Amino acid sequence: MIKRFIFGTPIETEAVIAQVTPSNFTNGYAGIEAKQTDSAISLKIIMNPSDIVYGLGENVRGMNKRGFKYVSYCTDDPNHSEDKESLYGAHNFLLINSLSNSKPKNLGLFIDTPGRVSFDIGFNRMEVLEITVDSGSFNLYVITNEDNCEDSPNGIIKQFRALIGHSYIAPKWGFGYAQSRWGYASSNDFRFVADNYKKSGIPLDMIYMDIDYMERYKDFTINRDSFPDFEELINEMKQDGIRIIPIIDGGVKIEKGYEVYEEGVKNNYFCKDENGEDFVVGVWPGDCHFPDMLDDEARKWFGRKYKFLLDKGIEGFWNDMNEPAIFYSRKHLNEVFDEIDSLREENLDLDKFFHFKGLIEGINNNLCDYRSFYHNYKGQKYLHDDVHNLFGYYMTRGADEAFDELVPGKRVLMISRSSYIGMHRYSGIWQGDNISIWSHLLMNLKMMPSLNMCGFLYTGADMGGFGGNTSEDLLLRWTAFSIFTPLFRNHSALGSRDQEFFRFQNIDLFRSLILTRYRLVPYLYSEYMKAAKNDSMMFKPLAFEYEEDSVAREIEDQLLLGDEVMIAPVVNQNTAGRVIYFPEKMKELRFENEQVIEGNIYEKGFHYVNIPLGTATLYIRNNRQIPIGEKVYSVDDVNSKNITYYSFGSAAEYDLYDDDGISK
Ligand code: GLC
Repeated sequence: MIKRFIFGTPIETEAVIAQVTPSNFTNGYAGIEAKQTDSAISLKIIMNPSDIVYGLGENVRGMNKRGFKYVSYCTDDPNHSEDKESLYGAHNFLLINSLSNSKPKNLGLFIDTPGRVSFDIGFNRMEVLEITVDSGSFNLYVITNEDNCEDSPNGIIKQFRALIGHSYIAPKWGFGYAQSRWGYASSNDFRFVADNYKKSGIPLDMIYMDIDYMERYKDFTINRDSFPDFEELINEMKQDGIRIIPIIDGGVKIEKGYEVYEEGVKNNYFCKDENGEDFVVGVWPGDCHFPDMLDDEARKWFGRKYKFLLDKGIEGFWNDMNEPAIFYSRKHLNEVFDEIDSLREENLDLDKFFHFKGLIEGINNNLCDYRSFYHNYKGQKYLHDDVHNLFGYYMTRGADEAFDELVPGKRVLMISRSSYIGMHRYSGIWQGDNISIWSHLLMNLKMMPSLNMCGFLYTGADMGGFGGNTSEDLLLRWTAFSIFTPLFRNHSALGSRDQEFFRFQNIDLFRSLILTRYRLVPYLYSEYMKAAKNDSMMFKPLAFEYEEDSVAREIEDQLLLGDEVMIAPVVNQNTAGRVIYFPEKMKELRFENEQVIEGNIYEKGFHYVNIPLGTATLYIRNNRQIPIGEKVYSVDDVNSKNITYYSFGSAAEYDLYDDDGISK
């Protein structure tokens, strides 16, 4: 059952597609107490000690979000440390799972508003969950299971996902392996990468193209000095089974004669400052304007611009810097310059030095800047801050809507950095600028179910880590996990250690892992498509299936993958294996030296399992079976006819989904 309650005068987000007639809220409904303080409204729920609070999609910390506070405000922050409250997405969905009988056993909450929302989940008071909406205006959706249904977490998810609409479906080739790096600066860099993968016998289905391909970081341009043969490169790569996936950024460079800029100015497509002038911000190209992604006309115009690359044979994109990231606003920057100038001759004592330092550190992503420009949304003027969380969503939606016109009926690969619930219908996401550290491998794992709940199924993180320098063992362990995630991309930052597999000593181990991925595609794609079509989750916390198992409820480094399999990757350095909790008897399937080996059977309970570096394992649940494909070097060669089923117990059937992978 879904109840909708309206607080204040909420701004439409189009996150929800189903019609739900609003009800009047009475305090105490489903254990929720609402309170108004000034313009803000907070919702308070008392949690039992054993309650688990899932949700919030892309965020730091556990799958169980208890014990910290979070803020939904899309943020460009490359330091995903435990003390951060916001990352790139705003996913205002919570699922409270309780063992007590005193209230709904499973309760779903969706707070639908495009502005800032704070979630204190037992931070100030350990037993209190308090959600605060600064504007006081939002739609609250409260989801409970019907009396005559099994009261399970899955039941809540299914209802929530029906409310927000089916997830985006990536082309099947998007399940291949993708190499990426910020810093592939010429056509020949791409050829070098492709050649070396070929020489190493490691499959490669995509190379992502970072900002280096653009002429001075201008969207929809090509740097002809370093990519004189761009079109040829795309074709050549395609002949070799490699698709090139270029990046598009949220800001448009201010430059006389640059078509996108000129058209945007002429047609009033850019966001305005308080004086009605086009708002000036700095991003990669320097001074830029933001297209008003919320304005129907501007969004349509920007979406159609992707044609420039589609016409060159491009079949996929990644939308970046769309929180939107702001390096500086011209106005604030000028103020900072003036102030710094005035400090030049001063004695920088404690106060003055830290003030000076704060001036510099406060230049990028400054809240005042987000409160200094405006959108035209549904015919009304809105301060950006009030609709902040929609920018990346609407940018990506605009592109998808244009693809429907430009390449009708065909799936286009798309991932976005920023997102809001609703965007899951148009695109996948990657998990942003992580770092080459072990805790970020674990964070990648934990985010999978949290994102799946919110409808984001085509997702994964930069394996090996984006910032910092990866070590070979970290990359091997990360790869052994990422072979299971739909987005399977090795991406790293400019200046970091080279991270392509062929750079390392144990190329055979990497090859074995990547070939394993391709053998898993029949199962992964099938489970992905079933999750998309049935509004379910591809990755689930153990407690979703073993709700009454008090140990399973606390496991934060293992996942259920589809209905058949549990995964438990190694996420610590200098270990030859790990302790795994088996919530029921399961059979190990081991991927080693390009072989599939049926391994041990583990009884319910804790076991130490050897998992040597460069190998991967999964665990088949009792009375289940999974399809494993043949060894192939491209997703295009994955064939659902040549499949071996590996089973445990008396598996009766497996529902294998397959299709052409391309049509919508
Ligand atoms: C942002 C993206 C990253 C990309 C970089 C350069 O930091 O998140 O993936 O490599 O910009 O475009």
